[in-house]
Amino acid sequence: MSNIATADFVNHQYQGFSLAPSAQSERLLELRFDEQTVNAYLKATAEWPVQALEYKSFLRFRVAQILNDLCGQALQPLLVNTLVDRNTGGLLITPEGLDKVEQAEEMVKFTTAVAHLFGRSNFDAMSGQYYARFVVQNKDASDSYLRQAHRVMELHNDGTFVEQDTDYVLMLKIDEQNMEGGNSLLLHLDDWEHLDRFYADPMARRVMRWAAPPSKNTTKDVFHAVFDTDRSGKPIMSYIDQFVQPKNYEEGVWLADLSEALETSAHRLSVRVPTGSFLLINNHFWLHGRDKFTAHDGLRRELMRQRGYFTHAKTLKNPRQG
Ligand SMILES: [Fe+2]
Repeated sequence: MSNIATADFVNHQYQGFSLAPSAQSERLLELRFDEQTVNAYLKATAEWPVQALEYKSFLRFRVAQILNDLCGQALQPLLVNTLVDRNTGGLLITPEGLDKVEQAEEMVKFTTAVAHLFGRSNFDAMSGQYYARFVVQNKDASDSYLRQAHRVMELHNDGTFVEQDTDYVLMLKIDEQNMEGGNSLLLHLDDWEHLDRFYADPMARRVMRWAAPPSKNTTKDVFHAVFDTDRSGKPIMSYIDQFVQPKNYEEGVWLADLSEALETSAHRLSVRVPTGSFLLINNHFWLHGRDKFTAHDGLRRELMRQRGYFTHAKTLKNPRQG
């Protein structure tokens, strides 16, 4: 994958942040904000606690603007363009110095600014807010694998059982104690060795029923196919194993084959996300999941997610190109 056209904006020190390919893949870029920029952002937005961003939607865009200004306006085009770039479309982002659970509110504020430079986060039915924080512990009685520690959460897309557009997924690590294992798992569709076979199958376009368990607070079923084609003619997916409801043997067997072909991919990335860092991916051509943890009585992990739609239909001019 050494010739992936990650464009000319990679491997560069910008005002306030740097950008380089991650150790795992050239498709996943690593963006690091300097501690000075992070502190300046927190100071400039100190008058607004997270609650203010919850109550007034437009303030989420104001804090985004403040962060972009601190980065010499180079951040917004970079995020907009990277997220729709089929060759990359994924970022591991670290705001330096923002890495303690006591700073959870500041972490949420920081991710909100990043997300609202290229999109708008959807209402999250699980929390009743534009983001959701949730805890994974050693024991759990929930009805989905999201909070169950001892098993793999299989590769999937988000938003498969809601009617809102889910163009991006942002996943923040707020806290981690007594953790062993539990890496984030990622697969870029173009790296998947079985993509052509499954995309070419007529079942790829079969409309199926998707229904979520009670904890998701959605009661309506939605209907769509597993695969679709984007505007440039490339395959995209909307799939999750737990919520698709095959109506017969043919659909069930095809879905079981699909699941096996995803879980056994040799190109799945395993990414450790440090506390305070977050993954940001294009939800149409990156699948995500989570590896299992090693049992420990004191295991605690807290995460936050934001999911939403892109507000920029077109790529923006890169300021580096003059
Ligand atoms: Fe997910």
